[in-house]
Amino acid sequence: MDIDGARFLVVGGSGVLGGLISRSLVDAGARVVVTGRDPDRLAEVAAAAGTEPITLDVVDVEACAAAVGTAIERLGGLDGLVVATGVPAFGPALETEAAVAEELFAVNALGPMALLRAAAPALEESSGGVAVVLSAILADLPTNQMADYSASKAALSAWLGVVRRENRRRFRVVDVRPPHLDTGLAEHPLAGAAPKLPEPLAGSAVVDAVLEALRGEASEIVWDPKAIELVLR
Ligand SMILES: NC(=O)c1ccc[n+]([C@@H]2O[C@H](COP(=O)([O-])OP(=O)(O)OC[C@H]3O[C@@H](n4cnc5c(N)ncnc54)[C@H](OP(=O)(O)O)[C@@H]3O)[C@@H](O)[C@H]2O)c1
Repeated sequence: MDIDGARFLVVGGSGVLGGLISRSLVDAGARVVVTGRDPDRLAEVAAAAGTEPITLDVVDVEACAAAVGTAIERLGGLDGLVVATGVPAFGPALETEAAVAEELFAVNALGPMALLRAAAPALEESSGGVAVVLSAILADLPTNQMADYSASKAALSAWLGVVRRENRRRFRVVDVRPPHLDTGLAEHPLAGAAPKLPEPLAGSAVVDAVLEALRGEASEIVWDPKAIELVLR
């Protein structure tokens, strides 16, 4: 994809990765609409993108579809969807409250799925439409004290894999599964407190990989523990 002039919706622009990706897209010449929940951080990123912010809680799947519609209307179509929303929770699997598990699956799986469903027709209309969705390494390596977070990300990755295969000729799907990052996500979980985590990777490495994936043909960004780097494939 040629990012210069491309039309993007970034969901979760109020977050660290979403904000950095939005800014990088704008710097590369894209037209970007951003959504988020935190009004102050969202306003800052939207101002940098020169766009009106869209406030969105991705738990509301109808609001997800409406936000996609608004972005398509404003941009006159859509070439790229980036979903960078997500929330963790920590603690033993059997002690996770049902309400916490529900919200994790709503934010980490059902919301992103609703967004991609809504964006799919516009991505198909674009020549070279791409959806980039942030999952996590935990989708491949479910981890103790993070059962529901791992399971919600695994559900998202499984769904993205099928969507990719079913829509090969319509648009591209990039599943991003990074390791622990320095964005501070683990410091504001929905429940519990993070166990000891590995040294974090810089979030900027994920942003660079996402831009590279957009420009190329990759359908996954994964962590290679032997090479100690993110790999596009
Ligand atoms: N950081 C890591 O270690 C790591 C590792 C692997 C994968 N990831 C994934 O990378 C993505 C970006 O995370 P990040 O590291 O940039 O963390 P972050 O700065 O905390 O960003 C998380 C984003 O998710 C949004 N969000 C959470 N719940 C939401 C809801 N109900 N509705 C709408 N937005 C919601 C936040 O919105 P507000 O701030 O506006 O509330 C924020 O924009 C997530 O999918 C995360 O799971 C992160």
